[in-house]
Parts: sequence; C-alpha cells; structure tokens
Amino acid sequence: MDTARTVVALRAKIRTWRSAGDRIALVPTMGALHAGHLSLIEAGKRRAHRVVASIFVNPKQFGANEDLDRYPRQEARDAELLRQAGCDLLFLPPADAVYPAGYATNVSVAGLDRPMEGASRPGHFDGVATVVTKLLLMAFPDVAIFGEKDWQQLAIIRRLAIDLNIPAEIVGAPIIREADGLAMSSRNAYLQPQQRAVAGALFRTLQAAASTITGGAAVTDTLSAARAGLESAGFRVDYLLLADEQTLQPLNQPVPGARLFVAAKLGATRLIDNFPVIPR
Ligand code: PAF
Repeated sequence: MDTARTVVALRAKIRTWRSAGDRIALVPTMGALHAGHLSLIEAGKRRAHRVVASIFVNPKQFGANEDLDRYPRQEARDAELLRQAGCDLLFLPPADAVYPAGYATNVSVAGLDRPMEGASRPGHFDGVATVVTKLLLMAFPDVAIFGEKDWQQLAIIRRLAIDLNIPAEIVGAPIIREADGLAMSSRNAYLQPQQRAVAGALFRTLQAAASTITGGAAVTDTLSAARAGLESAGFRVDYLLLADEQTLQPLNQPVPGARLFVAAKLGATRLIDNFPVIPR
C-alpha cells in the first residue's frame, strides 16, 4: 500500500491507475479504524479496481466543546489495518493541505442538515459537507463509500454530489455491529466498562420498537416507552424518532422508507444508531 500526503501525490497515483483503465473507490475516514471501516474497504474493492482510503481528523466538523483534541489517533495501526484489508493507497493529508492559509469556502446542504444531529451539533454538517466535497474533488473517484451508521451524513453527501455535479457514485454500506448489537464507532473507545455493558441496549431498543410499530402499535406511544426504557438503563436520550430515510422528515406513521433514528449519551459519550422499519 502506498501513502500520499499531498494532493499532487494523490492525483499522480490515481492518474497512473486511470490511464490503465482502473476504476477508483474512495473511502474517507477520520482514522481510529474498526471492522466497520474495513467493511467499507471491502465494499470499495467489490466496486472498483483500486481503493483509496483517506484519514483526516477534520477540525471543521467538531464543535467548540467536542472531542477534537482527544479523538483517537493511531496512524501506524490504521495503516497496517488498511494494508491487510487490501487498500491500495492511503491519503494522509496534513491540515494545511486541506485548509491552506486564507481558506474561505464552506459547503452547506440546507434542510437535510437541520434535524437530528444538525440540531445538536450546529455547524457539524457544514464541516462534513465541506471536507467530503474537497476529498471528492481531490481524488475524483468513480465511487465513494460511507457507513450507514451516520445515515444523515450519507443523505447529505448524496445531496451535495447531485447538487454540485460531482460524478462519483455515493454508496452506503451496512452498519457493522458488535456481538451485543452496538454499532461500531471510533467513539465507542470512550465508554467505561459499565457503560459498554449497557450500550447494546440502544440497538435492541430500536429493533424492539421497529417490530412493535410494524405490529400495529402507535408510533408516539412506542417511542415514549422506548425512550423511558433507555433512560432507566442509564442513557440520556437526545432524540429518538421515526423519520423518512431520504427527506429525514419526522413521521408518525410507518410508511415505506420509515426508519428509526436515535442519539443518546452514556456519560459524556454520545452514541447514534438507526434501524429500518418499513422498506421503501
Ligand atoms: O464519517 C466520518 O468519519 C467523517 O464524517 C468523514 C465522512 C470521513 C468526513 O470527515
């Protein structure tokens, strides 16, 4: 696996592959890789001849009181995991290669960035949309792969690729879960052992609520009971709602495309998850 630290080096490598007729997949990450990320590399390998992974802890998507400084950084371990997964190129840009002096441009996806994560993390999705746009323009991949755990992020990235005529196919890859159902996330490393022991309840609650709703129970009653259950297990629920998986608008009926979304804190660690209720 090669490593590129500049956009010039990234493009030079990709140009060589393109001239040999290869299709290119891009997997943007912030590092601290786990099996969920490695499944994105596998998805890339199924869709393209060459897979490029980027690791960049994007300061623009962290709020002032968020975990930018303590976000796990483990470059050597990540590089080894990527190499074993069959990644062809690791793009590791320094911050000033992404945001050079005088940087002034912001990508904002209006509407989709308002509910759920957008309400709790002002500015977060501008940071995500900006860096993802830049990575797509730097690498110009045929396909870019993102995890479905960050479902709202995926919806926003699909929108910006359409709106900005970025010709990459945006692909969502299924959530990879721990044995107890907890969605894999780099932030799970923050959980204390006793928090980790209850964290799987988040997924089990979504699963149970989805089957209660499809069984005909009222959405609002089901969600209030599910929220109360999570709170009594020690979670502080930020939101738990049913929404359309494309528009992200809240629903109170289980129509096609209805999906459950949750964000809840265990101590200082905020976890998110989502689960389909009715396929579209
Ligand atoms: O999902 C992530 O890890 C990040 O939000 C992304 C897409 C790499 C942009 O920084």
